[in-house]
Amino acid sequence: MCGIVGYIGNQKASDVIIKGLERLEYRGYDSCGISYYDPNNKKFVTNKDRGRVANLYNQYSYPDNNHYAIGHTRWATHGVANQNNSHPHYSQSKRFIIVHNGVIDNHKELVFKYLNDYEFISDTDTEVIVNLVEEFSKKLSIEEAIRKTISLLEGSFAFLIIDTENIDTLYAVKNKSPLLIGESDKGIVLGSDVLAFVNYADYYYLLEDNSFIIVKRDNGNFKFNLYDTIGFDLEVPEKQKMDFVTDELGKAGYEHYMLKEISEQPAVIRKIMSQYMVDNELKVSPEIKAMFTDIKKVYILAAGTSYHAGLIGRVYFEEIAKIPSEVFIASEFAYNEPLIEPDSMFVLISQSGETADLRSCLINVKEQGYKTLTITNVGSSTLAREADQYLNIFAGTEIAVASTKAYVGQIAVLAILANTLSKQHSLDLVSEMSRAAVSMENIIDKRDYISEIVEQVIISHDCFYIGRGLDYFVCLEAALKLKEITYLNTMGIPAGELKHGTMALIEKDVPVIAIISQDHINNNTRSNLEEAKAREGTPLIISLDNTSKGNDDIVLMDVHRLLSPLVTVIPAQLIAYYKAVELDYDVDKPRNLAKSATVE
Ligand code: G6P
Repeated sequence: MCGIVGYIGNQKASDVIIKGLERLEYRGYDSCGISYYDPNNKKFVTNKDRGRVANLYNQYSYPDNNHYAIGHTRWATHGVANQNNSHPHYSQSKRFIIVHNGVIDNHKELVFKYLNDYEFISDTDTEVIVNLVEEFSKKLSIEEAIRKTISLLEGSFAFLIIDTENIDTLYAVKNKSPLLIGESDKGIVLGSDVLAFVNYADYYYLLEDNSFIIVKRDNGNFKFNLYDTIGFDLEVPEKQKMDFVTDELGKAGYEHYMLKEISEQPAVIRKIMSQYMVDNELKVSPEIKAMFTDIKKVYILAAGTSYHAGLIGRVYFEEIAKIPSEVFIASEFAYNEPLIEPDSMFVLISQSGETADLRSCLINVKEQGYKTLTITNVGSSTLAREADQYLNIFAGTEIAVASTKAYVGQIAVLAILANTLSKQHSLDLVSEMSRAAVSMENIIDKRDYISEIVEQVIISHDCFYIGRGLDYFVCLEAALKLKEITYLNTMGIPAGELKHGTMALIEKDVPVIAIISQDHINNNTRSNLEEAKAREGTPLIISLDNTSKGNDDIVLMDVHRLLSPLVTVIPAQLIAYYKAVELDYDVDKPRNLAKSATVE
């Protein structure tokens, strides 16, 4: 979702901003913009529109001596994606300029109460913030005007504000939406994600909610001061070293990040194994194990792909650890909380560790006194920091919006967690996971074959994945992958449910893809597929060596039944990938979607 970058320093600010915005592209956006100070003409210049960050390079030129700028990628929430609604936004008199990430829930009330005389150019809630600052600055200092504005805002927000009358100072606020500070002796950079700082900062600082940051140029040096929103000094958080391997952020010769990330999955499993290996066993730490002592029920909360990993996690908690579990979609749990059983704890799963729906659940269950554990790919994320403990999935930065390697990483860590909690250590995870990694590699190596199948089979506007048990949960993820990057209408259905409604949609050429990795339901799912064939649907079977029969279309190397999702998901990821390539869609940045959903 929206990304923000701001900079004061010695370097060409427009470069820092545009490169930073490019690094934030993965978050998903539909328009973008930049405002920079042009010292030659002594004025601020703003370029913004619907479209890609590359346009900010291609369509404009920037003076080499610009050293102060802010920029934004917008994922539309209030108002359509067009130039007017793109950030940065100016206040009415043009004195203040803002970029904002988040949602102001009470913006209409604020206009009614304080801004009746103001004209609004855009449909955004952001313009309300910048005009409030302008209104209050008539009687207060700028800092006080910003503070008063913050005290009135309800919702989530991280924003940067320029006062055009003071080109040595940049103001920033963070509450519930992400914002970090990057630092080098060449300047200070602010951004929604540490990735925005690559090549422009040596260190970075994580910020708490309700932080007010003032960045200043001072005699050729650059510094920032941190305050809370009332005005008291805040302790500067511990400085973190930027230790990104820049290679990790490139495409490594692959045409798209998604294919690179699909191909990295066996390596992710091996990395997780190396990180969790203790005395030749895969285990979580004793502290995390201890959190589950006397726990009678585990609630798993997540969104999107992570929710699908959570469904598999529930099976692991119940079958391996013998702890009853339930899984909830975070946005549902947040506002429709079920009756929570005593002696429960919460496991939150999130690739980014920033999903707003999940954070609101976390705050809520912590307030009720429950223990919380986050499983995430980003150890510095909000959900990792705010839960009692976290487990890292070590998948490395995931750039493609469609999540792939994070999903298998989450499942692998859930298996290790459940196995550590099992009284009998029921799975020989070291050998089973190694075998799974080999099986994953095997199908990735044969990906050209999948690309041929896609040409022949996925030719309708609809597609259905069917399966039972664990296979059904993988079908949900398979369907999500296909729909999110090809825009084909795809559903994952429990195979036995097909006849209870969805069968009405099966007609000639509609693909029905069955995932069959579980021996005990093999024949049942095959019968359901026959029913679809009888309606002229086009069948396709993904099975394992030990569940395959005759000439199944994609037969994967055998793995332990419980770890099959690590492997069966891969052909589905590849089917989605090759179909999107065939349709010539933007595989890594599908329309309307965001990588990190930072609004509720
Ligand atoms: C967005 C992304 C999905 C992701 C979901 C949850 O919708 O596009 O890929 O699964 O958010 O994100 P999280 O970071 O919490 O796993």
